[in-house]
Amino acid sequence: MFGQQLCLVTLLLSVATVFSLDNGLALTPPMGWLSWERFRCNTDCVNDPDNCISERLFMQMADHMASDGYKDVGYEYINIDDCWMSKERDENGRLQADPKRFPSGIKKLADYIHSKGLKLGIYEDFGTKTCGGFPGSKFYMSIDAQTFADWGVDFLKLDGCYSNTDDMTVGYPLMGFFLNHTGRPFLYSCSWPAYVGKPDYQSIAKHCNIWRNYKDVQDSWDSVSGIIKYYGDDAQKFAEIARPGQFNDPDMLIVGDFGLSEDQQRVQMGMWAIMTAPLIMSVDLRNVKPFAKQLLTNKRIIAVNQDPMGIQGRRIWQVSNVDYWMKPIQPNGSYAFAFINFNTNGVQKKINLSLNYLHLTDPAGYNITETFTGKFLGVYKPTAYLHTLVNPTGIFMATAVPLSVYGRY
Ligand code: GLA
Repeated sequence: MFGQQLCLVTLLLSVATVFSLDNGLALTPPMGWLSWERFRCNTDCVNDPDNCISERLFMQMADHMASDGYKDVGYEYINIDDCWMSKERDENGRLQADPKRFPSGIKKLADYIHSKGLKLGIYEDFGTKTCGGFPGSKFYMSIDAQTFADWGVDFLKLDGCYSNTDDMTVGYPLMGFFLNHTGRPFLYSCSWPAYVGKPDYQSIAKHCNIWRNYKDVQDSWDSVSGIIKYYGDDAQKFAEIARPGQFNDPDMLIVGDFGLSEDQQRVQMGMWAIMTAPLIMSVDLRNVKPFAKQLLTNKRIIAVNQDPMGIQGRRIWQVSNVDYWMKPIQPNGSYAFAFINFNTNGVQKKINLSLNYLHLTDPAGYNITETFTGKFLGVYKPTAYLHTLVNPTGIFMATAVPLSVYGRY
């Protein structure tokens, strides 16, 4: 008996230390859609059939993702969040989708989503219950990983409610191990650091493709600006961990929902690109205003986010309630940069600074292009001054490509 226990402990410890996820996925930040922020735990399909968590909702989102131009610019995953399950496992201990809301079952839904050239993500929890109170994976990890693989799922978000956080060091890697063991590639999204006080980011990055590490995004400027501040402060030094295959996840894009002004939506989209964040929309794709749709599908912003080096941008200055952020991008020596004006006094902020201040010091100078519109602003030497006006709770974003790479545009 004691021998068996020792074996188990050795297996668990070796999974946590020796095993690494290394699944070749998320070489750039994943792009997709997730139900939570916009549709929450709405299970009332009788009174609210259009907005409840049901197979119909995910099929409709897949239709719009595939046909309205989102897939063409890189959005790929249709992800189910909490509240998809039946309250009970079946007689073999397997999870089952709520039979009323998902009458065809998840496998059929996965087939449908794959037929659109998209991928399906699902949600579970590391503890005894999901945050919404549905069956958790504790004691069922291996069987749940196999169930998801049998259904043809491509992405797992593993949340951390109702759990003992001390178990996460071993438990999150263990679920990754079981996912790998199925032989099906799963993009693995861990909520692990969001639940522990001092996350071991080295280990998290070895075992997860993306990881939530801060509060849930809500449909408000307070929430979005709070996340940007947390990422700018980077008190736990998580920015340096990001690279192809492993990215910090500041949570969903709420562009196109109710709470942000147009300027604030531009801030979120631009900053999620600079922060090299997963671009996971949570919006009703059946009904997106033209402004938001254009923003969500802006190829220049997406290119900054999807830069193949996968380096996370950093805040380099904070002066008079204005943030200055930089992200290295290709070609070599180039940067995307952004100024965000957090002032709410109603006047545009005049920014007037030489490129030197942004550490853009190549003596040959830089081609500067505004990112949202693609407007070429000119060639600037390091000592030249860039003048811009930034709206209250707005953003200016541009790229700087050294002349030494392409010459003058
Ligand atoms: C937690 C997560 C959210 C969402 C809900 C679902 O709050 O952080 O992203 O998954 O649970 O209940």
